[in-house]
Amino acid sequence: MPTLNWIGKEKVVNHHRDVPFRVLEHQYHFSAEKGVSAESSAEAGNMIIHGDNLEALKALLPEYEGKIKCIYIDPPYNTGTEKWVYNDNVNHPKIKKWLGEIVGKEGEDLSRHDKWLCMMYPRLRLLQRLLKDDGVFFISIDENEIHTIRILLDEIFGSNNFIEQIVWNKRVPKNDKGIGNIHEYILLYSKQSKHDHRFTQLKEGIDEIEELIQKSKRKNLSIAETETEVKKLYKKNGYDRGITLYNNLDRNYKLWGKINMSWPNGQTFGPRYDVLHPKSNKPCKVPDRGWRWKEDTFLANVNYDEIEELPDGSYKCGKIWFAKDENTQPSSIKYLDEVNDFLLRSIISLKSSGSIDLEGIFKKSAFDYPKPVRLLELLLNSFQDSESIILDSFAGSGTTAHAVLNLNKLDGGNRKFILVEMEDYAEDITAERVKRVAKGYGEGKKTIEGTGGSFDYYELGEPLFIGENQEHLNEEVGIDKIRQYIWYSETKTSIPVIAKEERLKQSQNKKAESKHYLGERDQTAYYFYYHPDEITTLDHDFLATIKTKAEKYVIYADNCLLSKEFMAKHNIIFKKIPRDITRF
Ligand SMILES: C[S@@+](CC[C@H](N)C(=O)[O-])C[C@H]1O[C@@H](n2cnc3c(N)ncnc32)[C@H](O)[C@@H]1O
Repeated sequence: MPTLNWIGKEKVVNHHRDVPFRVLEHQYHFSAEKGVSAESSAEAGNMIIHGDNLEALKALLPEYEGKIKCIYIDPPYNTGTEKWVYNDNVNHPKIKKWLGEIVGKEGEDLSRHDKWLCMMYPRLRLLQRLLKDDGVFFISIDENEIHTIRILLDEIFGSNNFIEQIVWNKRVPKNDKGIGNIHEYILLYSKQSKHDHRFTQLKEGIDEIEELIQKSKRKNLSIAETETEVKKLYKKNGYDRGITLYNNLDRNYKLWGKINMSWPNGQTFGPRYDVLHPKSNKPCKVPDRGWRWKEDTFLANVNYDEIEELPDGSYKCGKIWFAKDENTQPSSIKYLDEVNDFLLRSIISLKSSGSIDLEGIFKKSAFDYPKPVRLLELLLNSFQDSESIILDSFAGSGTTAHAVLNLNKLDGGNRKFILVEMEDYAEDITAERVKRVAKGYGEGKKTIEGTGGSFDYYELGEPLFIGENQEHLNEEVGIDKIRQYIWYSETKTSIPVIAKEERLKQSQNKKAESKHYLGERDQTAYYFYYHPDEITTLDHDFLATIKTKAEKYVIYADNCLLSKEFMAKHNIIFKKIPRDITRF
Protein backbone atom coordinates (compact mmCIF):
# COMPACT_ATOMS: atom_id res chain seq x y z
CA MET A 1 0.00 0.00 0.00
CA PRO A 2 1.48 3.41 -0.86
CA THR A 3 2.12 5.64 2.15
CA LEU A 4 2.66 9.35 2.42
CA ASN A 5 5.78 11.01 3.75
CA TRP A 6 6.15 14.62 4.77
CA ILE A 7 8.47 16.78 6.85
CA GLY A 8 7.81 16.10 10.50
CA LYS A 9 5.87 12.85 10.04
CA GLU A 10 8.20 10.79 12.20
CA LYS A 11 7.87 13.39 14.97
CA VAL A 12 4.08 13.25 15.08
CA VAL A 13 3.29 9.56 14.57
CA ASN A 14 3.33 9.03 18.33
CA HIS A 15 2.60 12.59 19.36
CA HIS A 16 -0.91 11.71 20.59
CA ARG A 17 0.79 9.72 23.36
CA ASP A 18 2.86 12.72 24.54
CA VAL A 19 -0.12 15.05 24.72
CA PRO A 20 -0.80 15.73 28.40
CA PHE A 21 -3.96 14.17 29.75
CA ARG A 22 -6.18 17.00 30.96
CA VAL A 23 -9.43 16.64 32.77
CA LEU A 24 -12.61 18.27 31.55
CA GLU A 25 -13.92 20.95 33.84
CA HIS A 26 -17.63 21.36 33.94
CA GLN A 27 -18.73 25.00 33.56
CA TYR A 28 -22.50 24.90 33.32
CA HIS A 29 -25.52 22.90 32.26
CA PHE A 30 -28.04 24.26 29.78
CA SER A 31 -31.51 22.96 29.09
CA ALA A 32 -34.18 24.41 26.81
CA GLU A 33 -36.67 24.44 29.71
CA LYS A 34 -34.53 25.83 32.53
CA GLY A 35 -31.75 27.72 30.75
CA VAL A 36 -28.27 27.80 32.29
CA SER A 37 -27.54 26.25 35.70
CA ALA A 38 -24.46 25.13 37.61
CA GLU A 39 -25.73 21.55 38.04
CA SER A 40 -24.01 18.96 35.91
CA SER A 41 -26.39 16.55 34.22
CA ALA A 42 -26.74 13.13 35.91
CA GLU A 43 -26.15 11.11 32.76
CA ALA A 44 -23.51 11.67 30.12
CA GLY A 45 -25.35 13.74 27.57
CA ASN A 46 -24.57 16.37 24.98
CA MET A 47 -21.27 18.16 25.46
CA ILE A 48 -19.59 21.28 24.14
CA ILE A 49 -15.89 21.50 24.96
CA HIS A 50 -13.87 24.67 24.55
CA GLY A 51 -10.25 23.83 23.83
CA ASP A 52 -7.77 22.36 21.40
CA ASN A 53 -9.20 19.11 20.10
CA LEU A 54 -5.93 17.22 20.50
CA GLU A 55 -6.19 17.56 24.27
CA ALA A 56 -9.98 17.39 24.31
CA LEU A 57 -10.02 14.10 22.37
CA LYS A 58 -7.52 12.64 24.77
CA ALA A 59 -9.64 13.79 27.70
CA LEU A 60 -12.61 12.01 26.15
CA LEU A 61 -10.81 8.65 25.87
CA PRO A 62 -11.53 7.29 29.37
CA GLU A 63 -15.24 7.63 28.90
CA TYR A 64 -15.73 7.40 25.16
CA GLU A 65 -13.09 5.14 23.62
CA GLY A 66 -14.94 2.75 21.28
CA LYS A 67 -18.30 4.40 21.97
CA ILE A 68 -18.73 7.01 19.22
CA LYS A 69 -20.97 5.86 16.40
CA CYS A 70 -20.27 8.72 14.03
CA ILE A 71 -17.56 11.32 13.66
CA TYR A 72 -18.04 14.24 11.32
CA ILE A 73 -15.20 16.74 10.99
CA ASP A 74 -14.76 19.83 8.89
CA PRO A 75 -11.17 20.91 9.56
CA PRO A 76 -9.45 23.94 8.00
CA TYR A 77 -9.09 23.02 4.32
CA ASN A 78 -5.62 24.59 4.10
CA THR A 79 -6.66 27.04 1.42
CA GLY A 80 -4.04 29.62 2.39
CA THR A 81 -6.67 32.15 3.40
CA GLU A 82 -7.98 30.65 6.64
CA LYS A 83 -5.28 32.13 8.90
CA TRP A 84 -4.90 28.89 10.85
CA VAL A 85 -1.77 28.40 12.93
CA TYR A 86 0.05 25.14 13.57
CA ASN A 87 0.76 25.26 17.28
CA ASP A 88 1.06 21.68 18.55
CA ASN A 89 3.76 21.44 21.13
CA VAL A 90 5.98 18.96 19.27
CA ASN A 91 9.42 18.99 20.74
CA HIS A 92 11.62 19.14 17.65
CA PRO A 93 13.60 22.12 16.33
CA LYS A 94 12.31 21.71 12.76
CA ILE A 95 8.72 21.74 13.91
CA LYS A 96 9.20 24.36 16.62
CA LYS A 97 10.23 26.76 13.85
CA TRP A 98 6.69 26.59 12.48
CA LEU A 99 4.90 27.42 15.69
CA GLY A 100 2.93 30.61 15.93
CA GLU A 101 3.13 31.42 12.20
CA ILE A 102 0.01 31.67 10.12
CA VAL A 103 -0.04 28.94 7.48
CA GLY A 104 0.13 30.78 4.17
CA LYS A 105 -0.64 30.28 0.51
CA GLU A 106 0.81 27.76 -1.93
CA GLY A 107 4.15 29.07 -3.19
CA GLU A 108 4.58 31.50 -0.28
CA ASP A 109 4.64 28.73 2.29
CA LEU A 110 6.57 25.68 1.16
CA SER A 111 5.73 23.69 4.26
CA ARG A 112 1.98 24.35 4.35
CA HIS A 113 1.06 20.74 3.47
CA ASP A 114 3.59 19.40 5.99
CA LYS A 115 2.12 21.57 8.75
CA TRP A 116 -1.42 20.58 7.93
CA LEU A 117 -0.57 16.89 7.90
CA CYS A 118 1.34 17.22 11.19
CA MET A 119 -1.73 18.87 12.67
CA MET A 120 -4.19 16.28 11.34
CA TYR A 121 -2.26 13.06 12.00
CA PRO A 122 -2.40 12.79 15.82
CA ARG A 123 -6.01 14.02 15.89
CA LEU A 124 -7.08 11.38 13.39
CA ARG A 125 -5.33 8.71 15.44
CA LEU A 126 -7.34 9.69 18.52
CA LEU A 127 -10.57 10.01 16.55
CA GLN A 128 -10.14 6.51 15.15
CA ARG A 129 -9.77 5.14 18.70
CA LEU A 130 -12.94 6.87 19.84
CA LEU A 131 -15.06 5.23 17.12
CA LYS A 132 -17.21 2.20 17.89
CA ASP A 133 -16.41 -1.00 16.02
CA ASP A 134 -19.43 -0.35 13.80
CA GLY A 135 -18.75 3.40 13.72
CA VAL A 136 -18.44 5.64 10.67
CA PHE A 137 -16.26 8.64 9.91
CA PHE A 138 -17.07 11.57 7.60
CA ILE A 139 -14.61 14.35 6.78
CA SER A 140 -15.35 17.40 4.64
CA ILE A 141 -12.43 18.49 2.49
CA ASP A 142 -11.73 20.25 -0.81
CA GLU A 143 -9.19 20.07 -3.62
CA ASN A 144 -6.37 21.55 -1.49
CA GLU A 145 -5.80 18.42 0.61
CA ILE A 146 -8.03 15.66 -0.80
CA HIS A 147 -5.00 13.94 -2.35
CA THR A 148 -3.02 13.86 0.90
CA ILE A 149 -5.81 13.15 3.38
CA ARG A 150 -7.05 10.15 1.43
CA ILE A 151 -3.65 8.43 1.70
CA LEU A 152 -3.36 9.45 5.34
CA LEU A 153 -6.78 8.05 6.18
CA ASP A 154 -5.98 4.84 4.35
CA GLU A 155 -2.96 4.55 6.63
CA ILE A 156 -4.87 5.29 9.84
CA PHE A 157 -8.19 3.55 9.15
CA GLY A 158 -6.92 0.89 6.74
CA SER A 159 -7.63 1.19 3.02
CA ASN A 160 -10.17 -1.65 3.25
CA ASN A 161 -12.27 0.59 5.50
CA PHE A 162 -12.57 3.30 2.88
CA ILE A 163 -16.21 3.49 1.78
CA GLU A 164 -16.69 6.46 -0.54
CA GLN A 165 -15.41 9.77 -1.80
CA ILE A 166 -18.68 11.70 -1.86
CA VAL A 167 -18.90 14.79 -4.04
CA TRP A 168 -20.92 17.64 -2.65
CA ASN A 169 -22.21 19.78 -5.52
CA LYS A 170 -22.70 23.16 -3.85
CA ARG A 171 -24.61 24.49 -6.85
CA VAL A 172 -22.88 27.90 -6.77
CA PRO A 173 -19.43 28.03 -8.43
CA LYS A 174 -16.29 29.70 -7.12
CA ASN A 175 -14.57 31.24 -10.17
CA ASP A 176 -11.21 32.45 -8.87
CA LYS A 177 -9.04 30.05 -10.91
CA GLY A 178 -10.64 30.53 -14.31
CA ILE A 179 -12.79 27.46 -13.80
CA GLY A 180 -16.17 27.19 -12.12
CA ASN A 181 -15.28 25.10 -9.09
CA ILE A 182 -18.63 23.96 -7.77
CA HIS A 183 -17.91 20.99 -5.52
CA GLU A 184 -16.04 19.71 -2.54
CA TYR A 185 -15.68 16.24 -1.02
CA ILE A 186 -16.85 14.22 1.93
CA LEU A 187 -14.72 11.15 2.56
CA LEU A 188 -16.42 8.26 4.30
CA TYR A 189 -14.61 5.51 6.21
CA SER A 190 -15.78 2.82 8.61
CA LYS A 191 -13.88 1.65 11.65
CA GLN A 192 -14.27 -1.97 10.56
CA SER A 193 -15.48 -2.95 7.13
CA LYS A 194 -16.74 -6.32 8.42
CA HIS A 195 -19.84 -4.57 9.76
CA ASP A 196 -22.63 -4.33 7.26
CA HIS A 197 -22.85 -0.64 6.48
CA ARG A 198 -25.80 0.72 4.60
CA PHE A 199 -26.23 4.44 4.02
CA THR A 200 -29.62 5.65 2.90
CA GLN A 201 -31.37 8.90 2.14
CA LEU A 202 -35.03 9.75 2.03
CA LYS A 203 -36.63 10.11 -1.36
CA GLU A 204 -36.95 13.84 -1.48
CA GLY A 205 -39.72 15.44 -3.47
CA ILE A 206 -42.34 12.79 -2.73
CA ASP A 207 -44.66 15.37 -1.13
CA GLU A 208 -44.57 17.55 -4.21
CA ILE A 209 -45.38 14.62 -6.51
CA GLU A 210 -48.27 13.53 -4.30
CA GLU A 211 -49.64 17.07 -4.32
CA LEU A 212 -49.55 17.16 -8.13
CA ILE A 213 -51.38 13.85 -8.42
CA GLN A 214 -54.12 14.95 -6.01
CA LYS A 215 -54.51 18.23 -7.96
CA SER A 216 -54.81 16.31 -11.25
CA LYS A 217 -57.46 14.05 -9.72
CA ARG A 218 -59.45 17.08 -8.55
CA LYS A 219 -59.25 18.49 -12.08
CA ASN A 220 -60.49 15.13 -13.42
CA LEU A 221 -57.38 14.61 -15.55
CA SER A 222 -57.13 11.12 -17.01
CA ILE A 223 -54.41 8.71 -15.91
CA ALA A 224 -52.45 9.29 -19.13
CA GLU A 225 -52.71 13.09 -18.71
CA THR A 226 -51.61 12.85 -15.07
CA GLU A 227 -48.64 10.69 -16.09
CA THR A 228 -47.60 13.42 -18.51
CA GLU A 229 -47.83 16.04 -15.73
CA VAL A 230 -45.73 13.88 -13.41
CA LYS A 231 -43.04 13.42 -16.09
CA LYS A 232 -42.98 17.19 -16.64
CA LEU A 233 -42.43 17.74 -12.91
CA TYR A 234 -39.58 15.20 -12.89
CA LYS A 235 -37.91 17.03 -15.74
CA LYS A 236 -38.40 20.46 -14.20
CA ASN A 237 -36.96 19.47 -10.81
CA GLY A 238 -34.19 17.21 -12.15
CA TYR A 239 -35.10 14.39 -9.76
CA ASP A 240 -32.84 11.44 -9.09
CA ARG A 241 -33.40 8.18 -11.01
CA GLY A 242 -34.54 6.66 -7.68
CA ILE A 243 -37.73 8.68 -8.26
CA THR A 244 -38.03 9.16 -12.03
CA LEU A 245 -38.15 5.39 -12.45
CA TYR A 246 -41.67 5.53 -11.02
CA ASN A 247 -43.55 7.14 -13.88
CA ASN A 248 -46.70 5.02 -14.39
CA LEU A 249 -49.98 5.36 -12.53
CA ASP A 250 -52.29 2.47 -11.73
CA ARG A 251 -56.07 2.87 -11.81
CA ASN A 252 -55.96 4.25 -8.22
CA TYR A 253 -53.46 6.92 -9.31
CA LYS A 254 -50.64 5.19 -7.41
CA LEU A 255 -47.17 5.62 -8.97
CA TRP A 256 -45.28 2.53 -10.00
CA GLY A 257 -42.14 1.73 -11.99
CA LYS A 258 -40.77 -1.13 -14.07
CA ILE A 259 -37.86 -3.10 -12.69
CA ASN A 260 -35.72 -5.16 -15.06
CA MET A 261 -36.28 -8.90 -14.64
CA SER A 262 -33.04 -10.15 -16.26
CA TRP A 263 -30.32 -11.92 -14.28
CA PRO A 264 -28.07 -9.06 -13.05
CA ASN A 265 -24.66 -10.78 -12.88
CA GLY A 266 -22.54 -10.75 -16.06
CA GLN A 267 -20.47 -13.78 -14.96
CA THR A 268 -23.25 -16.22 -14.02
CA PHE A 269 -26.68 -17.29 -15.29
CA GLY A 270 -30.14 -17.17 -13.74
CA PRO A 271 -32.99 -19.68 -14.10
CA ARG A 272 -34.81 -20.15 -17.45
CA TYR A 273 -38.52 -20.98 -17.59
CA ASP A 274 -41.49 -20.04 -19.74
CA VAL A 275 -43.37 -16.85 -18.92
CA LEU A 276 -46.65 -16.71 -20.81
CA HIS A 277 -47.91 -13.46 -22.29
CA PRO A 278 -51.42 -12.73 -20.82
CA LYS A 279 -53.02 -11.96 -24.20
CA SER A 280 -51.27 -14.15 -26.78
CA ASN A 281 -50.60 -16.99 -24.29
CA LYS A 282 -47.23 -17.48 -26.00
CA PRO A 283 -43.91 -17.60 -24.04
CA CYS A 284 -42.17 -14.22 -23.78
CA LYS A 285 -38.58 -13.66 -24.80
CA VAL A 286 -36.27 -15.05 -22.08
CA PRO A 287 -33.37 -12.67 -21.22
CA ASP A 288 -29.92 -13.79 -22.52
CA ARG A 289 -28.62 -14.61 -19.03
CA GLY A 290 -31.94 -15.98 -17.70
CA TRP A 291 -34.45 -14.51 -15.26
CA ARG A 292 -33.62 -12.64 -12.07
CA TRP A 293 -36.18 -14.55 -9.99
CA LYS A 294 -36.77 -18.23 -9.31
CA GLU A 295 -39.97 -19.48 -10.96
CA ASP A 296 -41.78 -19.68 -7.57
CA THR A 297 -41.11 -15.99 -6.88
CA PHE A 298 -42.37 -15.08 -10.34
CA LEU A 299 -45.56 -17.11 -9.86
CA ALA A 300 -46.17 -15.44 -6.49
CA ASN A 301 -46.04 -12.01 -8.16
CA VAL A 302 -47.94 -12.57 -11.40
CA ASN A 303 -51.77 -12.61 -11.38
CA TYR A 304 -53.28 -13.83 -14.68
CA ASP A 305 -56.79 -13.55 -13.19
CA GLU A 306 -56.56 -9.77 -13.01
CA ILE A 307 -55.35 -8.52 -16.38
CA GLU A 308 -55.42 -4.75 -16.63
CA GLU A 309 -54.94 -3.21 -20.06
CA LEU A 310 -53.00 0.05 -19.83
CA PRO A 311 -53.57 3.15 -22.01
CA ASP A 312 -50.52 2.35 -24.21
CA GLY A 313 -51.78 -1.19 -24.97
CA SER A 314 -49.47 -2.97 -22.51
CA TYR A 315 -50.73 -5.10 -19.60
CA LYS A 316 -50.45 -5.25 -15.86
CA CYS A 317 -51.03 -8.65 -14.19
CA GLY A 318 -50.58 -8.30 -10.44
CA LYS A 319 -47.00 -7.15 -9.95
CA ILE A 320 -45.78 -8.03 -13.47
CA TRP A 321 -45.88 -5.74 -16.49
CA PHE A 322 -46.18 -7.21 -20.01
CA ALA A 323 -45.67 -5.32 -23.29
CA LYS A 324 -48.26 -5.46 -26.12
CA ASP A 325 -46.93 -8.82 -27.21
CA GLU A 326 -44.51 -11.57 -26.16
CA ASN A 327 -41.55 -10.12 -28.13
CA THR A 328 -40.64 -7.64 -25.36
CA GLN A 329 -39.35 -8.88 -22.06
CA PRO A 330 -41.74 -8.34 -19.10
CA SER A 331 -40.74 -6.35 -15.99
CA SER A 332 -41.61 -6.56 -12.34
CA ILE A 333 -43.61 -3.72 -10.82
CA LYS A 334 -42.64 -1.71 -7.76
CA TYR A 335 -44.72 1.07 -6.21
CA LEU A 336 -43.03 4.31 -5.16
CA ASP A 337 -44.59 4.15 -1.70
CA GLU A 338 -42.98 0.72 -1.12
CA VAL A 339 -39.55 2.35 -1.19
CA ASN A 340 -39.24 5.40 1.02
CA ASP A 341 -35.49 5.63 0.94
CA PHE A 342 -32.67 4.68 -1.34
CA LEU A 343 -28.93 4.34 -0.97
CA LEU A 344 -27.16 7.60 -0.19
CA ARG A 345 -25.83 8.92 -3.49
CA SER A 346 -22.11 9.55 -3.98
CA ILE A 347 -23.03 12.94 -5.44
CA ILE A 348 -25.01 15.19 -3.12
CA SER A 349 -26.50 18.20 -4.81
CA LEU A 350 -27.41 20.77 -2.21
CA LYS A 351 -27.11 24.55 -2.15
CA SER A 352 -24.38 25.86 0.13
CA SER A 353 -26.81 27.64 2.41
CA GLY A 354 -24.98 27.45 5.75
CA SER A 355 -24.67 31.24 6.07
CA ILE A 356 -28.39 31.69 5.45
CA ASP A 357 -29.17 29.06 8.13
CA LEU A 358 -26.99 31.01 10.54
CA GLU A 359 -28.34 34.45 9.66
CA GLY A 360 -31.78 33.23 10.71
CA ILE A 361 -30.36 32.51 14.16
CA PHE A 362 -27.99 35.43 14.75
CA LYS A 363 -29.56 38.02 12.43
CA LYS A 364 -26.11 38.69 11.00
CA SER A 365 -23.29 36.83 9.38
CA ALA A 366 -21.70 35.35 12.50
CA PHE A 367 -19.32 32.76 11.00
CA ASP A 368 -17.50 32.21 7.69
CA TYR A 369 -18.49 29.18 5.64
CA PRO A 370 -20.68 27.15 7.99
CA LYS A 371 -21.99 23.93 6.48
CA PRO A 372 -25.71 23.75 5.63
CA VAL A 373 -27.78 22.08 8.34
CA ARG A 374 -29.46 20.06 5.60
CA LEU A 375 -26.13 18.51 4.59
CA LEU A 376 -25.41 17.40 8.14
CA GLU A 377 -28.95 16.06 8.55
CA LEU A 378 -28.49 14.03 5.39
CA LEU A 379 -25.18 12.53 6.54
CA LEU A 380 -26.19 11.92 10.16
CA ASN A 381 -29.45 10.29 9.16
CA SER A 382 -27.86 8.11 6.50
CA PHE A 383 -26.58 5.39 8.82
CA GLN A 384 -29.98 4.98 10.50
CA ASP A 385 -29.11 4.99 14.18
CA SER A 386 -31.22 7.35 16.21
CA GLU A 387 -29.45 6.46 19.49
CA SER A 388 -25.92 7.26 18.38
CA ILE A 389 -23.24 9.51 19.86
CA ILE A 390 -21.95 11.93 17.23
CA LEU A 391 -18.65 13.75 17.60
CA ASP A 392 -17.49 16.88 15.77
CA SER A 393 -14.06 18.02 16.92
CA PHE A 394 -13.83 21.02 14.55
CA ALA A 395 -17.22 22.34 15.53
CA GLY A 396 -17.13 25.93 14.24
CA SER A 397 -20.63 27.37 14.47
CA GLY A 398 -22.10 24.09 15.74
CA THR A 399 -23.96 22.94 12.60
CA THR A 400 -23.54 19.31 13.68
CA ALA A 401 -25.36 19.90 16.98
CA HIS A 402 -28.08 21.81 15.13
CA ALA A 403 -28.63 18.85 12.80
CA VAL A 404 -28.64 16.37 15.71
CA LEU A 405 -31.32 18.36 17.56
CA ASN A 406 -33.41 18.70 14.39
CA LEU A 407 -33.23 14.98 13.65
CA ASN A 408 -34.18 14.04 17.23
CA LYS A 409 -37.15 16.35 17.05
CA LEU A 410 -38.19 14.86 13.71
CA ASP A 411 -38.04 11.18 14.61
CA GLY A 412 -38.07 11.22 18.44
CA GLY A 413 -34.52 9.84 18.43
CA ASN A 414 -31.99 10.12 21.22
CA ARG A 415 -28.82 11.02 19.35
CA LYS A 416 -26.16 12.77 21.43
CA PHE A 417 -23.55 15.25 20.27
CA ILE A 418 -20.07 16.10 21.46
CA LEU A 419 -18.56 19.27 19.98
CA VAL A 420 -15.05 20.62 20.39
CA GLU A 421 -14.11 24.15 19.37
CA MET A 422 -10.81 25.82 20.11
CA GLU A 423 -11.61 29.47 19.47
CA ASP A 424 -13.18 31.79 22.01
CA TYR A 425 -16.41 31.86 20.04
CA ALA A 426 -17.09 28.35 21.41
CA GLU A 427 -19.31 30.12 23.95
CA ASP A 428 -20.75 33.04 21.99
CA ILE A 429 -21.37 31.29 18.69
CA THR A 430 -21.11 27.49 19.03
CA ALA A 431 -22.91 27.12 22.36
CA GLU A 432 -25.15 30.12 21.75
CA ARG A 433 -26.42 28.65 18.49
CA VAL A 434 -27.28 25.37 20.19
CA LYS A 435 -29.15 27.25 22.95
CA ARG A 436 -31.20 29.20 20.42
CA VAL A 437 -32.00 26.11 18.34
CA ALA A 438 -33.11 24.24 21.47
CA LYS A 439 -35.26 27.14 22.73
CA GLY A 440 -36.53 28.37 19.37
CA TYR A 441 -35.64 31.55 17.48
CA GLY A 442 -36.85 34.08 14.92
CA GLU A 443 -39.86 36.35 14.91
CA GLY A 444 -43.24 36.56 13.22
CA LYS A 445 -43.56 34.34 10.19
CA LYS A 446 -39.90 33.36 10.53
CA THR A 447 -40.30 31.89 14.02
CA ILE A 448 -38.67 28.48 14.32
CA GLU A 449 -40.00 26.34 17.13
CA GLY A 450 -37.38 25.03 19.58
CA THR A 451 -36.16 21.47 19.31
CA GLY A 452 -35.74 21.12 23.08
CA GLY A 453 -32.60 19.47 24.40
CA SER A 454 -29.71 20.23 26.71
CA PHE A 455 -25.92 20.18 26.92
CA ASP A 456 -23.04 20.58 29.36
CA TYR A 457 -20.29 23.07 28.65
CA TYR A 458 -16.69 22.24 29.55
CA GLU A 459 -13.27 23.86 29.54
CA LEU A 460 -10.06 21.88 29.41
CA GLY A 461 -8.75 21.70 32.96
CA GLU A 462 -5.56 20.77 34.76
CA PRO A 463 -3.18 18.12 33.41
CA LEU A 464 -3.27 14.86 35.37
CA PHE A 465 0.51 14.55 35.41
CA ILE A 466 2.96 17.37 36.02
CA GLY A 467 6.73 17.80 36.01
CA GLU A 468 9.15 17.87 33.10
CA ASN A 469 8.60 14.23 32.30
CA GLN A 470 5.03 14.09 33.55
CA GLU A 471 6.36 12.16 36.55
CA HIS A 472 4.08 13.59 39.29
CA LEU A 473 0.39 13.17 39.88
CA ASN A 474 -1.38 16.53 39.92
CA GLU A 475 -3.54 16.51 43.04
CA GLU A 476 -5.35 19.62 41.88
CA VAL A 477 -7.48 17.56 39.48
CA GLY A 478 -9.31 15.81 42.33
CA ILE A 479 -9.46 12.19 43.39
CA ASP A 480 -12.55 11.26 41.32
CA LYS A 481 -10.87 12.17 38.06
CA ILE A 482 -7.70 10.30 39.04
CA ARG A 483 -9.71 7.19 39.92
CA GLN A 484 -11.54 7.44 36.60
CA TYR A 485 -8.22 7.60 34.77
CA ILE A 486 -6.69 4.63 36.63
CA TRP A 487 -9.75 2.48 36.00
CA TYR A 488 -9.71 3.36 32.30
CA SER A 489 -5.96 2.75 31.97
CA GLU A 490 -6.46 -0.75 33.44
CA THR A 491 -9.70 -1.82 31.83
CA LYS A 492 -10.18 0.48 28.81
CA THR A 493 -13.74 1.01 30.01
CA SER A 494 -15.35 3.92 31.81
CA ILE A 495 -15.64 3.63 35.58
CA PRO A 496 -19.07 2.47 36.76
CA VAL A 497 -20.98 5.52 37.98
CA ILE A 498 -22.27 5.03 41.51
CA ALA A 499 -24.97 7.45 42.55
CA LYS A 500 -24.33 9.60 45.64
CA GLU A 501 -27.02 7.85 47.77
CA GLU A 502 -25.62 4.45 46.85
CA ARG A 503 -22.13 5.57 47.93
CA LEU A 504 -23.49 6.77 51.27
CA LYS A 505 -25.29 3.45 51.81
CA GLN A 506 -22.12 1.57 50.95
CA SER A 507 -20.01 3.61 53.35
CA GLN A 508 -22.43 2.79 56.21
CA ASN A 509 -22.40 -0.91 55.42
CA LYS A 510 -19.67 -2.73 57.37
CA LYS A 511 -19.38 -5.39 54.69
CA ALA A 512 -18.96 -2.78 51.97
CA GLU A 513 -15.67 -2.27 50.21
CA SER A 514 -13.30 0.49 51.31
CA LYS A 515 -13.33 3.82 49.48
CA HIS A 516 -10.14 2.76 47.71
CA TYR A 517 -11.95 0.08 45.75
CA LEU A 518 -12.34 0.99 42.07
CA GLY A 519 -14.32 -1.99 40.83
CA GLU A 520 -14.04 -5.52 39.49
CA ARG A 521 -13.66 -6.61 35.91
CA ASP A 522 -12.75 -9.97 34.39
CA GLN A 523 -12.31 -11.54 37.86
CA THR A 524 -9.79 -8.83 38.79
CA ALA A 525 -10.48 -6.39 41.63
CA TYR A 526 -8.82 -2.96 41.40
CA TYR A 527 -7.84 -0.68 44.31
CA PHE A 528 -6.35 2.79 44.31
CA TYR A 529 -4.98 3.28 47.83
CA TYR A 530 -4.14 6.93 47.83
CA HIS A 531 -4.17 9.88 50.22
CA PRO A 532 -3.00 13.27 48.96
CA ASP A 533 -1.40 14.10 52.33
CA GLU A 534 0.16 10.84 53.47
CA ILE A 535 2.15 7.91 52.16
CA THR A 536 0.06 4.78 51.71
CA THR A 537 1.44 1.28 52.20
CA LEU A 538 0.12 -1.96 50.85
CA ASP A 539 0.43 -4.30 53.84
CA HIS A 540 -1.60 -6.93 55.66
CA ASP A 541 -3.67 -4.24 57.42
CA PHE A 542 -4.79 -2.92 54.06
CA LEU A 543 -5.53 -6.42 52.78
CA ALA A 544 -7.78 -6.95 55.82
CA THR A 545 -10.06 -4.16 54.53
CA ILE A 546 -10.63 -5.91 51.19
CA LYS A 547 -14.10 -7.48 50.94
CA THR A 548 -14.20 -8.57 47.31
CA LYS A 549 -13.30 -12.16 46.42
CA ALA A 550 -11.56 -12.08 43.08
CA GLU A 551 -9.09 -14.27 41.20
CA LYS A 552 -6.61 -11.44 40.94
CA TYR A 553 -6.00 -8.11 42.70
CA VAL A 554 -4.35 -5.00 41.25
CA ILE A 555 -3.52 -2.55 44.02
CA TYR A 556 -2.03 0.90 43.61
CA ALA A 557 -0.24 2.42 46.63
CA ASP A 558 2.87 4.48 47.43
CA ASN A 559 4.74 1.54 48.98
CA CYS A 560 4.44 -2.19 49.44
CA LEU A 561 5.47 -4.30 52.43
CA LEU A 562 4.15 -7.63 51.17
CA SER A 563 6.65 -10.26 50.16
CA LYS A 564 6.98 -11.33 46.55
CA GLU A 565 6.07 -14.91 47.48
CA PHE A 566 2.92 -13.83 49.32
CA MET A 567 1.81 -11.69 46.39
CA ALA A 568 2.47 -14.45 43.88
CA LYS A 569 0.56 -16.96 46.02
CA HIS A 570 -2.50 -14.68 46.32
CA ASN A 571 -2.35 -13.23 42.84
CA ILE A 572 -1.72 -9.65 43.99
CA ILE A 573 -0.07 -7.13 41.71
CA PHE A 574 1.32 -4.01 43.34
CA LYS A 575 1.55 -0.82 41.26
CA LYS A 576 3.50 2.13 42.59
CA ILE A 577 1.92 5.59 42.52
CA PRO A 578 2.66 7.48 40.29
CA ARG A 579 5.43 5.45 38.60
CA ASP A 580 3.25 2.57 37.43
CA ILE A 581 0.26 4.59 36.27
CA THR A 582 0.01 4.09 32.50
CA ARG A 583 0.30 7.19 30.34
CA PHE A 584 -1.74 6.87 27.19
C1 LIG B 1 -14.21 24.93 8.83
S1 LIG B 1 -14.62 25.31 10.42
C2 LIG B 1 -15.93 24.21 10.81
C3 LIG B 1 -17.26 24.78 10.43
C4 LIG B 1 -18.42 23.95 10.91
N1 LIG B 1 -18.52 22.71 10.24
C5 LIG B 1 -19.71 24.72 10.75
O1 LIG B 1 -20.57 24.29 10.01
O2 LIG B 1 -19.81 25.78 11.35
C6 LIG B 1 -13.28 24.63 11.33
C7 LIG B 1 -13.34 24.94 12.81
O3 LIG B 1 -12.38 24.15 13.48
C8 LIG B 1 -11.81 24.90 14.50
N2 LIG B 1 -10.51 24.34 14.82
C9 LIG B 1 -9.37 24.39 14.07
N3 LIG B 1 -8.38 23.74 14.70
C10 LIG B 1 -8.89 23.27 15.87
C11 LIG B 1 -8.35 22.54 16.95
N4 LIG B 1 -7.07 22.17 16.96
N5 LIG B 1 -9.14 22.23 18.00
C12 LIG B 1 -10.46 22.61 17.99
N6 LIG B 1 -11.02 23.33 17.00
C13 LIG B 1 -10.25 23.65 15.94
C14 LIG B 1 -11.71 26.30 13.92
O4 LIG B 1 -11.59 27.26 14.94
C15 LIG B 1 -13.01 26.38 13.14
O5 LIG B 1 -14.01 26.95 13.94
